[in-house]
Amino acid sequence: MAIDGPAGAGKSTLAQAVAEHLGVERLDTGAMYRAVAWSALRQGVDVADAEAVAVLARHTTIEVGGRVVVDGEDATLAIRSAAVDAAVSAVAANAAVRAELVARQRAWVAERGRGVVEGRDIGTVVLPDADLKIYLTAAAETRARRRARDRADGPSVEAVHDDLVRRDRLDSTRLASPLPLPEDVAADAKVIDSTGKSSRAVLEEVLACL
Ligand code: DC
Repeated sequence: MAIDGPAGAGKSTLAQAVAEHLGVERLDTGAMYRAVAWSALRQGVDVADAEAVAVLARHTTIEVGGRVVVDGEDATLAIRSAAVDAAVSAVAANAAVRAELVARQRAWVAERGRGVVEGRDIGTVVLPDADLKIYLTAAAETRARRRARDRADGPSVEAVHDDLVRRDRLDSTRLASPLPLPEDVAADAKVIDSTGKSSRAVLEEVLACL
């Protein structure tokens, strides 16, 4: 199953609930882009240096499960920092990094033969033959509130809102696999707006599609 949508739409909560319900694993592909961004920051690699970041991505081991482990180090919390938030769009816009991570994401699914995969380009690029494609969205204010709650450093909702709008713009206007707007999502995707809905209600909407 593919779950796509902008930041803070509730993809991770939904992916986790669906995966539990179906007894399958889930893969958070955003965490993989964050892992590369974190590794670049730590190693002093300029995220604007496309070639250097591509080389780094190819040589970085990333395990995304209950914890996020990067080159053997637990980076679960570190990849959710403001510094990574600021750097990750440049990493996600890097076509060579995308090629590397998309190949790993497809291998993850091929190994298991099933699973719930969440991101921005899953239904369009990574798994165009997914059995079910969901595009989850929500009003920017709702998404900012959810993201502020997720962040360890307690930022204001306003600051998160502005950053989120900036990142949405970068993610949807980049040349390499941009985040599609709701009206341009894979034609076979079901669009769900989670504004004002409980996670239980969203889960039920998705399960009704199975
Ligand atoms: O969902 P998130 O905020 O953790 O994603 C982090 C960044 O990675 C964000 O800028 C979008 C990008 N991303 C992407 O380009 N493609 C994906 N499949 C997943 C995330």
